[in-house]
Amino acid sequence: MAIVIGIESTAHTFGVGVVRNGEILSNVKRVYTTEKGGIIPVEAARHHFNNKEEVYFEALDGAGIEEKDIDAVAFSQGPGLPPCLLEGMNFAKELSQKLKKPIAPVNHCIAHLEVGRITGAKDPVMLYVSGANTQIIAYASGKYRVFGETLDIGVGNFIDNFARYIGIGFPGGPAIQKLAEKGKNYVEIPYKVKGMDVALSGILTNLKHKAEKGYSLYDLAYSMQETVFAMLVETAERALAHTGKKELLLGGGVACNSRLQEMCRIMCKERKTGKVRFFCPPKSLLTDNGAMIAYLGEIMLNNERCMKYSPKQLRMVDIKPRQRTDEVEVRWK
Ligand code: ATP
Ligand code: FE2
Repeated sequence: MAIVIGIESTAHTFGVGVVRNGEILSNVKRVYTTEKGGIIPVEAARHHFNNKEEVYFEALDGAGIEEKDIDAVAFSQGPGLPPCLLEGMNFAKELSQKLKKPIAPVNHCIAHLEVGRITGAKDPVMLYVSGANTQIIAYASGKYRVFGETLDIGVGNFIDNFARYIGIGFPGGPAIQKLAEKGKNYVEIPYKVKGMDVALSGILTNLKHKAEKGYSLYDLAYSMQETVFAMLVETAERALAHTGKKELLLGGGVACNSRLQEMCRIMCKERKTGKVRFFCPPKSLLTDNGAMIAYLGEIMLNNERCMKYSPKQLRMVDIKPRQRTDEVEVRWK
């Protein structure tokens, strides 16, 4: 396959990426943000609708290609917010029809994982920490298996929710990281690892109470990061021990956090029972983006066992708002 474009629209980001033979030629995005309060799905979808043409042509320009050079279109099929997913899929279908090229539906979570290959990771345990998802994933016999996950909310949503409570808009993660860097005193916060899973909603309530009581927001942000990231690192380490894999890969927007990266790096280095290499893609590929969709799309399009659809079969293609990582048949491996 020569040139594949990927369209991302599962939540706050509308992105278009262009990939040729595993090389990312461009990766353009617009992110829906708020001053205060969280994402309103129909507003995010409107944001995508209003930005799609501009993002698309900017991505083509950035890649130095024209529309006629495109060989296939990949899009994020799910999981995600239905109004947002629909914008991406409809745009992908329009392009498929206009250019008379096949379309490949891609799972968003697995795209976060597969794009990690550009770091050199071959068969990692992945700590996937994003807005809606928090999972420890590894490949085993035909599927990406979930070894551990959040029992309630995703760590990104957890951080954003706390941020919102203290008056910070979306996304809250980067602002909370800045506050945490100024925190000096560790405040005791519940540590909730249950088997291979983590629970975050009780911690959120606890943090909100402490904020109400007038604890320093710097100290709370710092203590939150130290506690919750330690929970994530602990479960990731257990998955490494269980699977015997020798690589840890970070992915998802929360992986932009430099303290989380540092804690993962230390864990990998300090493991006594065999070395583990640590990998983390650049920021532009950690938060939602079109390049990761194009990247996995190309892999799928190159494999005859993977599903793809001609412009005549577009009626068979739909969004999957609740698709789970371990439902996806990984036919390209
Ligand atoms: P999903 O992949 O589950 O659909 P998503 O698409 O909402 O989630 P991403 O773009 O992968 O999410 O990640 C967005 C999240 O990353 C937001 O919750 C944001 O606050 C968080 N985030 C971004 N930068 C940082 C940071 N430096 N520290 C912590 N969190 C961060
Ligand atoms: Fe994501």
